[in-house]
Parts: sequence; structure tokens; C-alpha cells
Amino acid sequence: MGKTALVTGITGQDGSYLAEFLLSKGYTVYGMVRRSSTENFDRIEHIRDQVILRQGDLLDQLSLLNLIEESNPDEIYNLAAQSFVPTSWTKPLLTGEFTGLGVTRMLEAVRAVKSKARFYQASSSEMFGLVQEVPQKETTPFYPRSPYGVAKVYGHFITVNYRESYGMYAVSGILFNHESPRRGKEFVTRKVTDGVARIKLGLQKELKLGNLEAKRDWGFAGDYVRAMWLMLQQDKPQDYVIATGETHSVQELVEIAFNHAGLNWKDHVKTDPTLIRPAEVDLLIGDSSKAKRELGWKTEVSFEGLVKMMVDADIQRLKP
Ligand code: NAP
Ligand code: GDD
Repeated sequence: MGKTALVTGITGQDGSYLAEFLLSKGYTVYGMVRRSSTENFDRIEHIRDQVILRQGDLLDQLSLLNLIEESNPDEIYNLAAQSFVPTSWTKPLLTGEFTGLGVTRMLEAVRAVKSKARFYQASSSEMFGLVQEVPQKETTPFYPRSPYGVAKVYGHFITVNYRESYGMYAVSGILFNHESPRRGKEFVTRKVTDGVARIKLGLQKELKLGNLEAKRDWGFAGDYVRAMWLMLQQDKPQDYVIATGETHSVQELVEIAFNHAGLNWKDHVKTDPTLIRPAEVDLLIGDSSKAKRELGWKTEVSFEGLVKMMVDADIQRLKP
């Protein structure tokens, strides 16, 4: 008998890669989607007939209970969240409801309906915020710098707490930034690669960005969903940091992307003070030696390879 997985946030970047990965392993995949007046299934269109989509919402406890009852999953991947950091300052309460309390609603539904199911929580390197240690690992204290980061810290600790209180197989994956051609266009990598493609094709002249000095540990989303699955296949539930161990500035990202398209970034990039955040996370760099050692996980796509892949995909998509 194959296993069954339930993925919340299946319409997002990670949800789409994870669903592909689980299908390739022979899983029956249920995906939770929110009702909207127009469908938002672009990222899963190519696998839509292979997954079972059901409506549900992190704000609605009954929908979560019913979904777990119907799908009877062996594994649950809780990827749904309000995931864009700047929006967390303009919608702090909603972010707290989705990204923080939403995790408790999921855990309560699992506990009530199928407490033996294995549960993955999508935690984030944003929890390290004003970093207390370089590089950041599982034991590094958290110091979040946005309402999003604060909500993720809540989600992390409620997952740990349900594991310790009820003996559930519940784990928190502390994932550093991961990107792909399916990344939302408001995140900086995709904003840059989409902008480069538009400038290259004559559809746009300039690209407005915020803080070029911020540094991130950027990896490829396809590599990171493998780590999520590996975390649910262990003898003992534990939390893991997933990162490349390299850090690059936004400016380096910009340089590689423009160079790859044969453009000089200085001719096109303008800084826009309205894009500077009320509080910034200046530097992230992760130490994932625990995941390498215990899960056998490693990255397969380099930073430069990732940026070039994204520029090429955007040029291909926009080409007449
Ligand atoms: P994403 O592309 O923004 O996808 C978020 C998903 O959550 C979408 O499917 C969205 O549905 C769904 N969602 C939002 N609010 C919901 C609600 N109230 N009820 C049900 N579904 C809801 O995010 P991602 O990049 O794939 O990230 C996946 C998860 O990992 C998120 O929890 C994110 O915070 C976390 N994370 C991401 C990174 C990263 O670098 N990508 C790093 C660390 C942690 P709609 O399509 O309907 O909007
Ligand atoms: N979005 C954006 N837009 N960011 C910009 C811009 C811009 O025009 N200009 C500079 N940046 C800088 C931001 O100030 C930040 O320091 C960095 O680029 C990365 O921003 P994002 O790509 O928006 O990602 P993030 O690091 O804030 O958050 C992402 O990674 C987290 C993991 O660390 C999101 O995916 C979160 O959901 C995730 O948890």
C-alpha cells in the first residue's frame, strides 16, 4: 500500500515541488486549496489530474478536521502561510492568524483525528532575524525582526510543544531562503530575474529595488522539498536547519542576473527608499551539518546556477 500525504499550501512554490516529488515516490497526494473567485493553480496545472484538491483554510478549524478525516494521511506538510515579509507589517494580525495560530489549528486537527500522522511545519530562517550567532544552526537563539518572523517563532515552538506534550511525530524544518522559476514575483530573486528578462526584451527600462546590502543564504526549492520529506522518514522526530552554507548580497544576485543577460545592472537598477523595511534582517547564513549528517541531505544547484536558471526561464516565458 502506498502512503498518503496531505499538503497545505500546494498552490505555492514549495507545495508544487513537494507534490511533484511525493507523486514520484508513489504517494497519493491531497492538496488543501483556498476557495477564490478565480482559480490559482498555475504552479500545479501540469500535475492537477494526479493530485486530489480539497478546499480548506487555516482560519477555519472545521475545514481542517474534515480534510484530515477524508484524506487519512500518513504525512502532513504544513506549508500554507502568509509568507511575504513586507506584508506582515501591513497585515500583522492576519499574518499572526495564518502563519502563527494556523499551525495550532493544524496540530489540533491532527491530534483530534489522526495523532499518529507525521507532521512537518515550514519554519524559517527569518526566525533568526538579528542573528545571535554566525552561521545559524538548530541551537542558535531566535530574534525575529518582522511580524512574519514572530509568527514563525510561534509556529516553531507550538510544533515542538505538541511533540513534547502529546508524543506526536511533529518536526520543524528551519529552511533558509529557497527560490526557483516558480517563486512569487514579489520576492527579490524573482523580481530581479523577471526584471532582467523584461529589460532584455525591451519591455521595461528600469528596476526599482530596496536594500542591496542585505545578505541571504539562497538555495533551490527543488533541493529543499527533499529535505522536508527526509525529516518525516526518521526514527525520531527532530528539527533541522536546511541551508547551503553560502551567503550572497542582493547586489551580487543583481550582478549575476544582469551579466547573464549581457546587461550592465548600473544602467537599470534604481534604489527606492519605500522598499526599505522597518526592520531588516542583514545577514543569514545557515549551518546544515546536522541535516547532512543525519538525513544525508545536500544541495544540487549552486547559487549562480540558480540565478541563471531563473533568468533563462523568465526570458523564455516572456519571449514573443
Ligand atoms: P508561497 O509561494 O507564498 O505559498 C504559500 C501558500 O500558502 C499558497 O499555496 C497559499 O495559497 C497558501 N495559503 C496562504 N494562506 C492560506 C490560508 N489561510 N489557508 C490556506 N492556504 C493558505 O510560499 P512558499 O515559498 O511556497 O513557502 C512555503 C512555506 O514555507 C511557507 O509557510 C513559508 O512561510 C515557508 N518558508 C519559505 C521559505 C522560502 O524561502 N520559500 C523559507 C522558509 C520558510 P494561495 O495560492 O491561495 O495564496
Ligand atoms: N522583496 C524584495 N523586494 N526584497 C528586496 C528588494 C525588493 O525590491 N530589494 C532589496 N530586498 C531585500 C530585502 O530587504 C531582504 O533583505 C532580501 O532582499 C530578501 O527579501 P525577500 O526575497 O522578500 O525574502 P525574505 O528573506 O524577506 O523572506 C523569504 O525568505 C524567508 C526565509 O529566510 C520569504 O520566502 C519568507 O517566507 C521566508 O521565510
